[in-house]
Amino acid sequence: MFNNFKIRHIYVFSIKKSLMEKNLVLIGMMGSGKSTIGKIVASKLKLNFVDVDKKIESLSGLKISEIFKKKGEIFFRKFEEEVSINVLKSECKIVALGGGAFLNDNIRNALRSKNISIWLKWNSQLLISRIINSKTRPIVNKLSEKELIKLIENRSKIYSKADYKINCDKLDKNEITKKILDIYKNEKNISKNTQ
Ligand code: S3P
Repeated sequence: MFNNFKIRHIYVFSIKKSLMEKNLVLIGMMGSGKSTIGKIVASKLKLNFVDVDKKIESLSGLKISEIFKKKGEIFFRKFEEEVSINVLKSECKIVALGGGAFLNDNIRNALRSKNISIWLKWNSQLLISRIINSKTRPIVNKLSEKELIKLIENRSKIYSKADYKINCDKLDKNEITKKILDIYKNEKNISKNTQ
């Protein structure tokens, strides 16, 4: 009797733990709403939210645009790798990665365990209209519209390696959030059934 009780409790605890261990990681281009949607999802699931760009800014004491200007993109990418991998190692939260982070093999490898990646996919024109006048995104400032389209096409091949893709074009914020919550529920069930 006591043993049964104990086993049941260990079982329940291990299900909870394995669900809680996973992070939901939002990926995609600049302007795809990773931070905005990530915050909403986190508050619905009562989980912490980490915006990796914000973390980079608070750790370095510099805005992303200042890091690019003062130290260059290579330095930024190295720092981004370090911070992203650290964030992905800890558990149980919603993460918004920077738009270029998923292109880095080491970050993608770090994502493999304990993380569920979701690509917020939008059509190029919509993304460009959102970011073209951005003063805070150094990558946008140095590219023409044509080059940005090419960048989105090239990156999309890598983004498509994410565990899930959401076609966001016809969806509003609430519908995107709902899709992410459905993915979370689905992963919960998978996790329950494989215990
Ligand atoms: C970048 C995207 C930015 C930021 C940096 C580089 C990129 O993040 O990391 O400006 O290469 O796409 P957001 O996607 O959050 O804007």
